[in-house]
Amino acid sequence: MIMADKTKAEKIEDIAKRRGIFWQAGEIYGGLSGFYDYGHLGCAIKHRFENLWRSYFLDEDFYYEIEATNIMPEGVFVASGHLANFVDPVARCKKCGTAHRADHIMEDFLHESFEGMTMEQMTEIIRKHNVKCPRCKGELGDVSILNMMFPIILGTGEGTKAYLRPETAQGPYINFKREFECLRKQIPVGLAMIGKAFRNEISPRNLLIRQREFTQAELQIFFDPEKIGIHPRFEEVSDYVLRLHSVADRKSNTITEIPCRDAVKKLHIPQFYAYHMAKIQKFYLEVIGLPPEKFRFRELSEEERAFYNKIHWDIELDIESLGKFTEIGGLHYRTDHDLGGHQKISKQDMSVNIEGKKFIPHVLELSFGVDRNIYAFLDLALKEETVKGEERTILIFPRRLAPYDCAVFPLVNKDNIPGKSHEVKEFLKEKGLVMFHDTSGSIGRRYRRMDEIGVSLCITIDYDTMENETVTLRDRDSMKQIRAKISELPEVIKRYLKGEAIENLGEVVKTSKEE
Ligand code: GAP
Repeated sequence: MIMADKTKAEKIEDIAKRRGIFWQAGEIYGGLSGFYDYGHLGCAIKHRFENLWRSYFLDEDFYYEIEATNIMPEGVFVASGHLANFVDPVARCKKCGTAHRADHIMEDFLHESFEGMTMEQMTEIIRKHNVKCPRCKGELGDVSILNMMFPIILGTGEGTKAYLRPETAQGPYINFKREFECLRKQIPVGLAMIGKAFRNEISPRNLLIRQREFTQAELQIFFDPEKIGIHPRFEEVSDYVLRLHSVADRKSNTITEIPCRDAVKKLHIPQFYAYHMAKIQKFYLEVIGLPPEKFRFRELSEEERAFYNKIHWDIELDIESLGKFTEIGGLHYRTDHDLGGHQKISKQDMSVNIEGKKFIPHVLELSFGVDRNIYAFLDLALKEETVKGEERTILIFPRRLAPYDCAVFPLVNKDNIPGKSHEVKEFLKEKGLVMFHDTSGSIGRRYRRMDEIGVSLCITIDYDTMENETVTLRDRDSMKQIRAKISELPEVIKRYLKGEAIENLGEVVKTSKEE
């Protein structure tokens, strides 16, 4: 069904709710702003993204995943600087009392970015342009700041003050020394975490994009700062062309396409950093398979950078429903900001001794918002088309991110065909494939259902199967169909999921977009 009267964000939300991807948390109690629950399909998509991320980014020797707690002692955030610096600018309405994120309402009102401005500068702009409360049009007060962390008290009475972590990163930092000892005292070493982060966002918005509880996938690479100008595998990426939106590109709103080699020579991006830029871009363009024009790195100026970063480029995707390139991650050179802070506050030595050289390692952080990635993929994947007079909504998900590897259907529910379909399903399950088995509705409707949740391959068991042990395989995007032997299915599906065109895997029996 084509939803002509809805915006793209509304269409995403509609499919997400109807099909079991995500919806606002606490729905039956009126909902909780900034919190979302994932349904059975959303959970499957999220796990697929996380597993892909793990298998791609943790492929180096000495890169490991750990798990640390969501609640951490106050000292952690004194050391990291979050207690003093992790703040957002707030403007409160004098009439209705609503607190707004000052830079966001200014951005909505004046269509410019105001990131990195001081409270005084923002107050001045609000006064100059007469920016009003978006809710009641009342006058706004002066801009002040609000710490975004959620404090909690543990135990009874005065208890112990702690915080819900605002980023996963602090887990690897406070556990670094122990892991370094366990991991044969080597540098570089990478410690990754996939887990929840909590932020008291003043204005949560845009569905999964700005929430108060969300999932991050972050890799902290601890390295010798004297080696930031070298990466042993740089030659592999030196010709690879990066898509950069530097501070200098802002005025002309352009993207500079530059080989890594020149990014190092001409833009003075350290080799170790540039290597990881290439690694991240390849993940989006080659592994996920996004069109290059949807991807860019955006450089943050000194005023805009997070307080812990020396070099900071955001990873951005062009999200149509938001009408702009939007941050979905970042590559952060955090120096020894965090380990140095923890050494000072915990009084524990964070330095390492490598071949007689004693130093506090520096950190390069690869940081990804899992929910923002999911939302961006839904936005990029959602298409509507009319085929032979019939409307279809389709999620053109990368094959490896779809909630199921494939779907298996009996053509009809009689003549032993359902039993055979069940047998094929069990055979593929044994081979490690994740399937959806659907027996209800016409075959056309079952195809449409799978199109709408992004399943790229449908396998149908029909009367010919009973004769010759072959099945139909239907490709979501082209709607082309081939036949293949049941015994060959595991291999055919494996090749298909790796990206091979359906017509390379067997003779096409029905042509494009014809059913
Ligand atoms: N450890 C570094 C760090 O936390 P960040 O830029 O504050 O850096 C990293 O967050 C990523 O987490 C962002 O690029 C974004 O994808 C995601 N993220 C941040 N705030 C979010 C929010 N309120 N809701 C959903 N995702 C968020």
